[in-house]
Amino acid sequence: MEATLQQADPAVFATIQSEIHRQKDDLELIASENYVSNAILEALGSPLTNKYAEGLPNRRYYGGCEHVDEVENIARRRARELFTVEGCDIGVNVQPHAGAQANQAVFLAALNAGDTILGLDLSHGGHLTHGSPVNSSGSLYNGVHYQVDDQGIIDMNVVRERALEHRPKLIITGASAYPRIIDFEAFRSIADEVGALLLADIAHIAGLVATGLHPSPFPHCHYVTTTTHKTLRGPRGGLVMAQREYMKGINSAVFPGNQGGPLMHCIAAKAVAFGEALQPEFKGYCQQVIDNAAAMADRLMSRGFSLVSGGTDNHLMLLDLASSDAADADLTGKQAELILGEAGITVNKNTVPGEQRSPMVTSGVRIGTPAMTTRLMGVPESVQVADWIADVLTSPNDEALRAQMKLEVQGLCRRFPIYPKLG
Ligand SMILES: Cc1ncc(COP(=O)(O)O)c(C=O)c1O
Repeated sequence: MEATLQQADPAVFATIQSEIHRQKDDLELIASENYVSNAILEALGSPLTNKYAEGLPNRRYYGGCEHVDEVENIARRRARELFTVEGCDIGVNVQPHAGAQANQAVFLAALNAGDTILGLDLSHGGHLTHGSPVNSSGSLYNGVHYQVDDQGIIDMNVVRERALEHRPKLIITGASAYPRIIDFEAFRSIADEVGALLLADIAHIAGLVATGLHPSPFPHCHYVTTTTHKTLRGPRGGLVMAQREYMKGINSAVFPGNQGGPLMHCIAAKAVAFGEALQPEFKGYCQQVIDNAAAMADRLMSRGFSLVSGGTDNHLMLLDLASSDAADADLTGKQAELILGEAGITVNKNTVPGEQRSPMVTSGVRIGTPAMTTRLMGVPESVQVADWIADVLTSPNDEALRAQMKLEVQGLCRRFPIYPKLG
């Protein structure tokens, strides 16, 4: 009980140390990742992990819940404060273990097996949990999809056509790889026309929504889900919100419908993250995320790279290699991810609209600025990073360039350190 991790389990300790060093010295551009604060790490590593607390605060199935009740109530209060808009009474449930579980809870509350759900196509930027056949959302329910147009923009006429054709019970808006503003109001008018409920999955843009830098899904959406670990910069986890009248169904769908005991250490960490996001500085952070993405997008385009939709309004961009003048036609997303990784720049391959390659190969790369912005990198660094990306991708056979660049990337990362007391 008294031994440190290093003493008790050197093998696990060593892997954690290596990962800390990777996070410190590599440039993280995966759009869904971020760095949490030391305060959040402390809450995550707390003995709250020991506590079973099935049920909601003050209505638990276990004794000894007085302190975790308090922390869950703090998390709930702060989440409401972050996402409430005037004139719309919302409820929140902070217990979903992750974004996927938050979406499952909505499906369980709103649907019967076999009902139709309409979401954005996975290869056009949607998420697996929006009705893909390989996910329970597509095997338990009838998943149908809308696509983006030739410019890479969600065409509301197409959404309406699909909705009229399929008469879904639930329409899902929200995405994993969509660089533009989402028009929740337009989605609601289509949902009303076909008698559907509307879910916004704001997993990616939650921080931007919380700070008013992206329009809110409320009051238009009946349900709103999010992860807490992307632009919101909290611990890994999920959050589900709904207009008040739908909350009872959501609460019982989370527990006992979908989960057992909530992860109280994560809920404590979510409370800390929501507290951080309520501070005025967090809006400055989110604005910088957007400014950095815009600067990076502009530079990449000026270097001959094509971005889906011609740029970005948010924290991410999608590089379309197949239609980029600057890239070899046979350079795949998989190869780009690999060679950028060799240069110390971490991205993920991504399908692009009209994708011709498999999801394991792809023709695109998704790039996001939330993590580098947390390190306090700004526009000059974003432009520099765009140049590095362009240099690597225009010379995919130049191993020496990548070796040299890895040192330069490391130098930049060390000028903007994270976790100075760790590793
Ligand atoms: C839009 C969207 N919804 C849901 C999820 C699932 O979140 P999790 O990985 O926490 O289950 C993701 C994750 O990337 C996402 O992008």
